[in-house]
Amino acid sequence: MCGIVGYIGYREAYPILIKGLKRLEYRGYDSAGIMLYCGDDLAVTKTKGKVSDLEQKSHALAKSKAKIGIGHTRWATHGVPNDVNSHPHVSNSGKIALIHNGIIENYDSIKRELTKRGYVFHSDTDTEVLVNLIEDVKIKENVKLGKAVQIALQKVIGAYAIAVFDLDKPNELVVAKLGSPLAIGIGEDEFFIASDATPFIEFTNNALYLEDGEMAIVRLGREVRVRKIQDDVHVHNPEIQELELNLEQIEKGGYEHFMLKEIFEQPNAVRDTLRGRLQAEQGVVKMSSIDDYLEKFVRADRILIIACGTSWHAGLVAEYLFEDLARIPVEVEYASEFRYRNPVITSRDVVIAISQSGETADTLAAIKLAKERGAFVYGVCNVVGSSIARETHTGAYTHAGPEIGVASTKAFTTQLTVLSLIAAKMARAIGTISQSEFIAFLSALDQVPSKIETVLKTEESIKKIAEVYKDATNFLYLGRGYNFPVALEGALKLKEISYIHAEGYPAAEMKHGPIALIDEHMPVVVIAPKRGHYEKIVSNVQEIKARKGKIIAIVSKGDTDIANLADHVVEIPDIHEALTPMVTTVPLQILSYYIAVMRGCNVDQPRNLAKSVTVE
Ligand code: F6R
Repeated sequence: MCGIVGYIGYREAYPILIKGLKRLEYRGYDSAGIMLYCGDDLAVTKTKGKVSDLEQKSHALAKSKAKIGIGHTRWATHGVPNDVNSHPHVSNSGKIALIHNGIIENYDSIKRELTKRGYVFHSDTDTEVLVNLIEDVKIKENVKLGKAVQIALQKVIGAYAIAVFDLDKPNELVVAKLGSPLAIGIGEDEFFIASDATPFIEFTNNALYLEDGEMAIVRLGREVRVRKIQDDVHVHNPEIQELELNLEQIEKGGYEHFMLKEIFEQPNAVRDTLRGRLQAEQGVVKMSSIDDYLEKFVRADRILIIACGTSWHAGLVAEYLFEDLARIPVEVEYASEFRYRNPVITSRDVVIAISQSGETADTLAAIKLAKERGAFVYGVCNVVGSSIARETHTGAYTHAGPEIGVASTKAFTTQLTVLSLIAAKMARAIGTISQSEFIAFLSALDQVPSKIETVLKTEESIKKIAEVYKDATNFLYLGRGYNFPVALEGALKLKEISYIHAEGYPAAEMKHGPIALIDEHMPVVVIAPKRGHYEKIVSNVQEIKARKGKIIAIVSKGDTDIANLADHVVEIPDIHEALTPMVTTVPLQILSYYIAVMRGCNVDQPRNLAKSVTVE
């Protein structure tokens, strides 16, 4: 994880780096640091804490007119978050500075070797080992920085996106990538380096994304030169992409937190996901990635879904969708388990990898494994040009726009949108649903944005419920059928941003254990829309009531049965059963948001977490 940023050009580097780090804080925020090239010297400031703490500590740097610099925001892997372990790390000679996102797995053996050769280490990090290895190669082999970085990386096992500066070559930055993202923003007489394009979007729309195993020398007055790390082959005419991202999309737009903004963006995010793909009345779903490979989907023996966290929950909903509509067997796997358990995969499997960031290390590794074993791999990603988008055979973007809040919200609903389109298209192609059922489903999907808008209007009443339960120490979330994964997702949202212990369960499983937890102190969120297993869940609600549990029920508009039993009710509009998760999940997002805010938690940057989990 971690975010890296760099600048080389004619503008003052400090404000660009600080602003860039703030935009990258979703990648990690336990410490931060900055290095500027100030004439003959490197000026480095680093600190435990957030980028705002770094700003407080770097008043001297803020006055600098330096035009070259690098910065880093950290999510600790090797070594606790403290000032010393923060990046940039500087080599023993004081000449080379380096920032790193990733893990150097063989750092210990390299460190022992370098220690024998007289190198001294001040931090516990793998990164300090790498910067000294580069220095050692540079001196020993008598080579320039670019070559030294290349030779050093050939000795390294692990994952990295790095940017390196050397006082002996002060007009260039050397960057390299393997397994962690790295974008180079190309302006006029200036270059930007970053983990994603957000730090430089107001300066340039032109970005070059390094591929795994590539490095580049970014030098003033010259085109960026890209080469392979392992075999020294130059990459001719690397692709420069024109980005569509705009500044407004990555700012808070008047909301107190990104999470709240992103919750409220969901109607439009889903509309954007559907745009150009859905013509409900005509019964048309246009997705070239499916049309081009329809045969693969139609002839598949099974669908295997791999993902982590919230994306895994979207996968669970998709299991219901694909089996229900297209009558095809589906398995949903945690990518982290899948990659290490010698799974049985055949060339007749369609693997769907779901990832908001497109950078999750376990999902990426699981995709590689599935491909090696002959499966066709389809990606559902949000971040355009991300590693997973590039690693899969084909796929669909969710077009949700940047998701900055660490807790996933609009990513989930837009993933479900794409998965619903695919399931419906596949079901119609196989013939498991009729044309009229197809059109009815598509029309219902078309109405999801307006249904979410209706749910968003319940914000104030949900806020009142949050007030009542903000001090609870445990929560239970129950759902059945399509809404069982929503129960898991609701519990995850609450855990990660409010630090309240919460568990999601299929409602009927309650009596096999968790019912023992229920007493008058236990808030139980029950997701119980009219469609689905309504009668069954009414009985479950009665069981909770009999044990004095506090019931917060998400019910269909006009419901009276559950409303009469529950302590609090949030109404959602009626919708096709298979699409209820896209609507029922929204009040749960709002509930966890307000509980976290009322508990004084940092909603957008919860402790111990980061937005992209680029380490396994
Ligand atoms: C929870 C959350 C995480 C992510 C998970 C996968 O709110 O955001 O559980 O869903 O880390 O991330 P992606 O989707 O980027 O692969």
